[in-house]
Order: sequence, then structure tokens, then C-alpha cells
Amino acid sequence: MCGIAGHYGSSDTGEVLLDMLKRLEYRGYDSTGAAFLSGSDISTVKGTGDIEKIKENVVFLGSVADGGIGHTRWATHGRASDENAHPHSSCENRFSLVHNGIIENHRKIKSELGGHKFYSETDSEVAVHYIEEKSTLGVENAVVSFMEKAKGSYAVALMDSKEERVFLLKNGSPLAIGIGKKDVFIASDPFAFHSYTDRVLFLRDGEYAVVDNCDVTIKNLDGAVQKRKPEVLEWKERSFGKNGYRHYMQKEIREIPGCIERLEKLLETVESEKVDGFIDALLGKDKVVLTASGTSHHASMLGSRFLRKVGVDARVVVASEFGENFEIDEETLLLAVSQSGETKDVLDAIETARKMGADIASITNTPHSTIQRRSDVNLGIHAGREFCVAATKTFTNQVYTLRKISKRIRGRSSVGNLPSNLKNTIKKNGEAVKKVAEELKNKEDIYILGKGEMHPVAEEISLKLKEIAYIHAEGMMGGELKHGTLALIEEGTPVISLVPRRNSDIVSNLKEVKSRGANSIEISPFSDRFELPDEDEDFIFFSAVLGFMLTYWIGRKKGLPVDRPRNLAKSVTVR
Ligand code: F6R
Repeated sequence: MCGIAGHYGSSDTGEVLLDMLKRLEYRGYDSTGAAFLSGSDISTVKGTGDIEKIKENVVFLGSVADGGIGHTRWATHGRASDENAHPHSSCENRFSLVHNGIIENHRKIKSELGGHKFYSETDSEVAVHYIEEKSTLGVENAVVSFMEKAKGSYAVALMDSKEERVFLLKNGSPLAIGIGKKDVFIASDPFAFHSYTDRVLFLRDGEYAVVDNCDVTIKNLDGAVQKRKPEVLEWKERSFGKNGYRHYMQKEIREIPGCIERLEKLLETVESEKVDGFIDALLGKDKVVLTASGTSHHASMLGSRFLRKVGVDARVVVASEFGENFEIDEETLLLAVSQSGETKDVLDAIETARKMGADIASITNTPHSTIQRRSDVNLGIHAGREFCVAATKTFTNQVYTLRKISKRIRGRSSVGNLPSNLKNTIKKNGEAVKKVAEELKNKEDIYILGKGEMHPVAEEISLKLKEIAYIHAEGMMGGELKHGTLALIEEGTPVISLVPRRNSDIVSNLKEVKSRGANSIEISPFSDRFELPDEDEDFIFFSAVLGFMLTYWIGRKKGLPVDRPRNLAKSVTVR
């Protein structure tokens, strides 16, 4: 995780770094920092908390600098503290370094660096001391030596004040270089600099780049120059701001109907051939294995059900549990589903499956992501940038895409009234949701029951309750209740049931909890609390959206940081 930013060139480095770091906060926000190069001096500012805390210093130091590097952190090695915040400096303050990833053998490297003084508990700090130690051989050789020695994944930006150059090192974690007319931009994600330039060089694993006075040279570990033209990003940002909403989460839930409508149009027009190609890849193999994490895993659980319904042998494996013991071979298509396209667990699953002979398909939201680039076929879900750490509009667009593919396989495909029904669901249930949120906000445990296709939705709502409302929640198959969990249901225990039809099997589970005195909350077209359309097939979407609204309002009523929950980050690039 963590976000790396860097700038060198004629624009104001302070303003540029500040802007880029804000755009990278989704990668972590435990602490922030930046280091600036003026002449051969390095000035550093860093500390716990987000960019707002050091904003003034960044602007001031950056305004007189030739270049700088910055970092926004999600703690892995070492808690969030001023010392552990990046950049880290070498003993002589010649070098300053920011890192994203994990250097697995950092202890061993550190043990060989006697005489160096370490200030942090991080794995990252060893890199800057190691390179300083070896710099007597020339900095470039020291960089190569570090890359040969380090195990794990890393993206590193290293500033050398003596030779006034910046080195970029990559293995496993993403690093993009934006090429402007008189500026070079560096970032973990091109989104950070795409308002300055649309020309991007993506560094590949095992490569390093030297940024010297706005010239960029990419080399491999043998020192051979890797010549390639920058890619031109087509992606245009729709909006970066809350547009009057208090939180991004609220705005992004409101965007759901429009996102589905736009996606449907794209899939039926400009993307139509791509969908056909995707289906050919899917049907060209004996079996499909879907893999994903968190919310995307819940979308994949639904996806595997949709695909099985139309005769595709599909199963789902959560990415962090993916291993070589699964039956993956040349006749398998691995279908990776990821909003960010950067999730490390998913990338590892892709690598394993590839080694076992599988072809790779993916469904992603963020354009130009690593997962997209490592896939044989890819479909975008076109939900636009999602800023809230919790996925909402991207979940519904993932589910919509997977359902669309399945419907096309069956030869049937239409959007129906889904967008307008969703608009009404959001509009009509605002007050009802706030009332239930008030009722639930002080509860410690909530159970959510679903059956069949509603089970992944129940799991998804429970994930959101934990993440946004800090309430322990359990999403489960209604039928499983009587096999154990029912023992926890007592007078007043909140149980939310997802009931798509009057005659749903879940109704009997509902009776079981009611008769034990549970506070039963039905999300249903027949509920006396909510107003939902009686459209069985689309109930997945209505119940998910209502669940998102409910968790949002509980979090908001509790005064929680709904867009940036504690300990989390939007893009999980560590294992
Ligand atoms: C929860 C959430 C996470 C992500 C998960 C996978 O609201 O957003 O659970 O779904 O970290 O991320 P992606 O989809 O980027 O692979």
C-alpha cells in the first residue's frame, strides 16, 4: 500500500506534490511526508496524520525546490509515528527515500549495515542506508546491488542530493512516470498526475529509472537501456470533489443508478465487441475460476452463480486463499475481479494460475492497472473514480457486468427499469434508513441473513457495517442459523433479513429469530419500513444499495470517518 509521489521540473514542486499526495491518500493515510531538493540540500517534513497537517510546509519548501518526493503511508512495518513516516534519510543526509511494498529480508540487510544509525522501525529504512553504504561504487551500482539483494515487493523513489538525480526502483509494486514538457512526475498511480500530463511510462518489474534534469532513462539490472515510448492515457477524470455531499460515500451511492445506466450503454455499443471477445475467452475453456478480495469477492460469488446458471462451470476462490492446490490447468480461465486492479492477493493468484497454464481474464475499474495489463482479456466496469475507501458503486457495476455477461451467454440482455428503480429506492428510503440507523447505531452485533443470491449481498452488507460503522456484523446463509448461531439471538438482537419474495425460504428463518425476540428488520418489497420495487431479479441491487445507505448513516450518526475508516486503505498492495 502507501502512495509515492515525486516531481522534478519547472512547475512549483510544492503545489504539485501537495495535489498528487491528496490524490494518493486512498492508498493510506496514517502519516505523510515529503523531501525537497534545492541545490544539493535536502529538506524533509513528515509526521503522523494526513497531508493537511504538513500542507503549509510542503507548499513553502516546495516553492523554492528543484524537485521533491512525497509519501502517504499505510503502516505495515512499524506503527504510525513521526519516525516511521517517510521519507527516510541516509546517515549523511545525502539520500532521501520513499517506499511502497515490503522488503521481506530487511532484518538480514540491516544486520549487515553496522555503523549506520536507524531512526525508524520500518523495513524501508534499510534501503536508504544500504544504498548509501554501497554508493562508493557509484550510486547506480548501489541501486542495482540493492535490487539484486532485496526480496519482496517494492516501488522506491530515491533522491540523491549530491548528483541531483532521482532513482526509481520497481519490483512488484506499481510505479508510473509522467512525462510533461518541462516536468517529470512520479507516482504509484498515474491518476495522481494525469491533470498535468497524459504521457506515461510504466516501470516494469526488475527495472530502474534515472531522472536527471527532466531526462528519464530506464534500465534493466544488466544496465541495458529500455527504450519505449510513453503510453498516452485516454482516461479522463469525471470529477474530483464531493459536489456538495458531506462524504464521498454518500455521493458515490447516489451515483449508482447513473453508473449502471452508462455501463449498460457502453456494453451495448462501443464495448459490445469486447464483451463478445470476453465471452469467447470464457466459453473457450472447460472451467472458469473467479478470484477476488473483499467486496470484489462478494461480487464474484454472485458472478459464479450467474455463470453456473447459464451452464458455465464456474467456481470462486478468495484471492488470499488461492494456492497451487487448486485444480488449475490449461483448460482453466482465471477471472480476476478487482476495483483497483492492484490488489496484491489477486496479482499473486494471477501469477500462480499463469504458471499452472491458465489464461487470465479480468474485470477492473481503474484504467491502466497492473491486473488489466497482466490479463489476456479485460473488461472495464466504467464506474469512474471511487474515492471512499469502501466500494459501493464499483460493487454494483461489477455485479451488473457479471450478470450482463451471463445474460449475453444465454442470448438475453436488457437493462429494464433498473436505473430508475434504483433512483427511486435511494430517493424514497432516505428517512426510513436514517430512522433504522438511529435504532442500530449503538448496537454491538448485527446479523444479516440471506439465501441463495442474497447470501453474498448479506456478506457484503456485513463487511460494510464492520468497515464503516465499526459494528461487528455477520452476514450468513439464513438456513445455517439453526445450526449454531441461533444461540446468540436474544431479546432485541438486530437481525436484518434480505427477503426478495413473499414465499422466500428465508421467511422461515425470519420467524425463527422473531420468536426468540430478535429486533427483526426486513429489507423487502413487502416490508413496512422500506419502499422497494417488487422486481425479484433486481433485488440484489436494491438490497445492496439500501444496505450501503444504512451503513453510511450509522457511520455518520456515530461521527466516524466514513470515507477513510481506521486501519484501511483503498488499494491493498501487500499480501
Ligand atoms: C470494502 C472494500 C474492499 C475491497 C478489497 C479488494 O468496501 O472496498 O474489501 O473490495 O480490498 O479491492 P479491489 O477490488 O481493488 O481488488
